[in-house]
Order: sequence, then structure tokens, then C-alpha cells
Amino acid sequence: MLEKIKKTTEFLKSKVDLKPEIGIVLGSGLGNLGNEINPVAVIPYKEIPNFPISTVMGHGSNLIFGTLEGKNVVAMQGRFHYYEGYTMQEITFPIRVMKALGVQSLFLSNAAGGMNPDFEVGDIMLIVDHINFMGTNPLIGPNYDELGPRFPDMSEPYSKKFINLAKQCANNLNIPIKEGVYVAVTGPNFETPAEYKFFRIIGGDAVGMSTVPEVIVAAHSGLPVFGVSIITDLGGFEDIQPISHEEVLKAADAAEPKLSAIIKAMLKEL
Ligand code: HPA
Repeated sequence: MLEKIKKTTEFLKSKVDLKPEIGIVLGSGLGNLGNEINPVAVIPYKEIPNFPISTVMGHGSNLIFGTLEGKNVVAMQGRFHYYEGYTMQEITFPIRVMKALGVQSLFLSNAAGGMNPDFEVGDIMLIVDHINFMGTNPLIGPNYDELGPRFPDMSEPYSKKFINLAKQCANNLNIPIKEGVYVAVTGPNFETPAEYKFFRIIGGDAVGMSTVPEVIVAAHSGLPVFGVSIITDLGGFEDIQPISHEEVLKAADAAEPKLSAIIKAMLKEL
């Protein structure tokens, strides 16, 4: 693993003359922000040694280096999911690489199903905490002390500083936002009515199939995280509607400009 991280990092450094400060992962239907980056280099995942290749429709497949609001960033346009068949270590490998490239903060976005009855489709939810319900963990296996501790602390998985900054920025932009706990499942099926209800009862506000493995690796690496969900569908209420991937992408796409505006305002302030 250490060798792989080193090899991939060296490859990227040889290709790109930009030292990123902030890593960004753009989730389903949320890749547009990537197009607003002033690019220094756009590298398809398939050209990057040790990177898996995204297999899901609607997800881009590029690592973008450039500047956004004057900050040096590296952004993943599309992420890797456990349900695609990769290992937990594979889907979080890009986070290890971002850390090795010198990134000091990590911004993660995703599309999620809302379970909090106050939520509506198109809402933006700041992730304030999570429940790992994937039944596995990217840190299982030998621990590399060079990368982080065997038993990482998770008392502040989502940086309070970033949460407060996001609230301020959203307020200045007049964009209403919600806050909540994200429950991570493997997918790929959406939840049954009983599962949505269960996830609500155990303390979840939204449910999705990503992000938490990346947050765990970020915590292991000592990287502060900002996490945000777009609520693309609603579950757990009296009258549950069928949901499709297309609808999720459509709702994410519609809400994307609000999220981009908040992230750009935050970058300006950092
Ligand atoms: N469940 C799980 N993942 C999701 C959902 C959902 O309802 N919506 C978007 N991603």
C-alpha cells in the first residue's frame, strides 16, 4: 500500500506542477463544480497508476488539478463506490494520494435519501456526523503507522470549523441549509420502507452509499473534512415513492448550483 501511494503520487507530481491545498470529491450529479476549476491538468482515472475506473453512469472519471477561488485544489469528478466491487482500500486510495500530495482539507459531496421529515428533495444537508452501516471498514488489515494510528479518534469526523463556515456562507448567499447525520450503506439497492424507518430511528437524517469510507481514511490521515449531501429522494414516511438512479441524478443536478456557490464561498474564506 505504501509503495502504491508513493508510485501514484510521484506519477501525478511528474505530470502536474501545482501543489493542491484542498481535496474535493464530487459525487453523483455534482461534478459541475469541476468545470469551474481553472484547470492546470485534467487526468483521466484510467491513466493514473493504481486508480480504479468509475463504472457508474452519470459519474465523471477525471482528477482535476487547478485553482478555484484562488485556492489550489485537486478534485475528483466522480468517486469509486464499494458496490462497484472494489475493496474498501481501493475506493479510499485517492484520499491517501491526496494526503500524500499535501492536501490539508477534504471536501466531500454526495447524493442521499432524506429520512428527516423536515427535509425536501433538493435540500442541502451539512453532514455533522455519520453512522457507518456498511458492515466493513477501510482500515481493516495491517495498520501503517506512517499513515495514521491503529485506533483513530472519531470525536469530530466533520470539522466544526467548516460546518460553521458553511452556515455563514449559505446565510450570506441566502441559501437555506439543513444539518444532519449521514448513514452509509453499501447499496446498490435503495432502501426498503422498513430500512428507511430503521435508519431514522437509529439517528439518521439521510442515507447514502458513499463518503463514510473516505471520511474514515481522512480521520486516520489527520485530514479535516467538510461533508455535504444533496437530498435527492425521501424515504421513511407514510407514502414512499419508488426511486431510480435517473431521478437521483436529476435532483442532484438541479441542486448542484446551490452547493457549488456554498463551496466556492467557503474556499474564498479559507
Ligand atoms: N438511499 C441510498 N442511497 C441514496 C439514496 C437513497 O435513498 N438517494 C441517493 N443515494
